[in-house]
Amino acid sequence: MKITVVGAGAVGASCAEYIAIKNFASEVVLLDIKEGYAEGKAMDLMQCASLNGFDTKITGVTNDYTQTAGSDIAVITSGIPRKPGMTREELIGINAGIVKTVSSNLIKHSPKVTLIVVSNPMDTMTYLVHKTTGLPKNKIIGMGGALDSARFKYRLAEALGAPISDVDGMVIGGHSDTGMVPLISHATRNSIKVSEFLSSDRLEQVSEDTKVGGATLTKLLGTSAWYAPGAAVSALVQAIACDQRKLFPCSTFLEGEYGLNDICIGVPVILGKNGIEKIIDIPLSSAEKTKMKESAIGVTNTNNLLTL
Ligand code: LAC
Repeated sequence: MKITVVGAGAVGASCAEYIAIKNFASEVVLLDIKEGYAEGKAMDLMQCASLNGFDTKITGVTNDYTQTAGSDIAVITSGIPRKPGMTREELIGINAGIVKTVSSNLIKHSPKVTLIVVSNPMDTMTYLVHKTTGLPKNKIIGMGGALDSARFKYRLAEALGAPISDVDGMVIGGHSDTGMVPLISHATRNSIKVSEFLSSDRLEQVSEDTKVGGATLTKLLGTSAWYAPGAAVSALVQAIACDQRKLFPCSTFLEGEYGLNDICIGVPVILGKNGIEKIIDIPLSSAEKTKMKESAIGVTNTNNLLTL
């Protein structure tokens, strides 16, 4: 199993690190445009191998896509990250051109690749890849919901005073400060609805804290987060590489599901060896339906800024 990670910045490198630590891939190629940078990160990571007990071979390359040939899965993290006060949507101008070039270079050398898009604004970048590459839709996956759901579970556990392993919950919709739809009605603590434990005001607070999860970290760190994004990507990569058929919310191209068309947005999917094996269309409460509709309008407005 060969995996390429494009962009050796904080998210790309932490993604490569988590993939290696989980020890399911034979090879990870880390590619960056900055001379020597991916080589350096790869060497540093490889020097963790004996300490952390992994056999995955990590190679770094400077913009040489021939080294990515035959990749089964590729992750696109390249582009600029947010600075404090910026929305993900503001990155579209620079990142659209980068994502278009990177995806076409990857496919040229790995025509059967499954692409995981992380660059922001993620839903729009996933849509761009869908519109410009000709890859089948099951092989184009946007990473947002897995991260947002992890942040939701963190906030739920905090509010409940419970360990995170007690909590289950999912965030669908657009990967943006206003577009996320934390599914409070489906969230549970060991199968008991969280509304049994928390007031609606507290749950509203959990929801709001979840939606600005990325912005909160950007303010604290001066740039966008990397540990949880890297861990979330590695979980998606593992689900595909190991044909786990795990359920994650991911951004995928919709054709009628959730009443939406011609859009990539976060919904629950099953991930396996073919990428997106199935889209799960679950019933939403009427409030969640309205939020999903509003989220889709936001994503479509950003998509309309693309020149395809
Ligand atoms: C975040 C970036 C990855 O939410 O969008 O941290």
